[in-house]
Amino acid sequence: MPEYRLENLQKELVSILNGKIERAAREAQLILMHSLDCDELWLMMHKEEVIQNADEIIKKAHRRSKNEPLEYITNSVSFYSQEFFIDYGALIPRPETELLIDEVLNRIDDKNSALTFTEVGVGSGIISIVLAQHLPNAKFIAVDISENALKIARENIKRFGLEDRIELRHGSLLEPVGEKIDFLVSNPPYIANDAPLETNLSYEPQNALFGGEIGDEIIQELLIEFLSRDINWFCCEMGYDQRDKIVNFLNNKNFEKLDFYKDLSGFDRGFTLKARDE
Ligand SMILES: C[S@@+](CC[C@H](N)C(=O)[O-])C[C@H]1O[C@@H](n2cnc3c(N)ncnc32)[C@H](O)[C@@H]1O
Repeated sequence: MPEYRLENLQKELVSILNGKIERAAREAQLILMHSLDCDELWLMMHKEEVIQNADEIIKKAHRRSKNEPLEYITNSVSFYSQEFFIDYGALIPRPETELLIDEVLNRIDDKNSALTFTEVGVGSGIISIVLAQHLPNAKFIAVDISENALKIARENIKRFGLEDRIELRHGSLLEPVGEKIDFLVSNPPYIANDAPLETNLSYEPQNALFGGEIGDEIIQELLIEFLSRDINWFCCEMGYDQRDKIVNFLNNKNFEKLDFYKDLSGFDRGFTLKARDE
């Protein structure tokens, strides 16, 4: 391996990425910043620096050139202005899921109340973790069908020191939860099994993406659970085209209020359902 100075290494990364992915120069910068644990200013000020582990960094650029998500290459993802650990086995958190968190928080007047939450499909843990940070007296039971996802969630829960507030349970839907809960929250898989996917999505766990033949089967099962148990609220992310099915399903059912919210592109993205006070 030839000796690389930062400036040459940066050029090499850009040439590996050029024509393969969009924003090659920016992505090269991101790979460098993560690998060297530095910021943009440092990169600009140290162009002559000799880089010791250049071969490792070049390997990362080759992985990225095949459309492997940067988050899996760097084991890092930004969500709600914080850095979380991420790896194969859990879905890469999407920016629109921040809206689901805001929807939940907007429903809670007293942020200090001792609410009990269950999250179905915890994945990397981002939803329960951010909610726990904003609701200091709330407790969480976070369920996932995937042991690999639970491992990643455990790592993040430890990183943020929330082991005593978020309990992880392995299982399907609400099956491992017998207790009374106030809030059910979920970003379930909601894509139809046969939907064509972009290449970068093929790196993500399939059971985090596909919700059944039609796509909304898991959402329907969660609605049934919500209606048959004594749960006050259900906040859920959904596909942009699933609103009518949800409205039809809830027609004639006993609940107080159903509100949908849109994502930043103006597409329907989720709903909040409130149970009738008995
Ligand atoms: C769309 S991902 C959401 C992950 C994370 N909450 C987020 O928002 O980034 C859906 C998660 O649901 C889990 N899952 C799929 N089917 C499930 C089931 N029947 N019961 C519990 N979890 C399930 C998947 O393993 C995956 O981690």
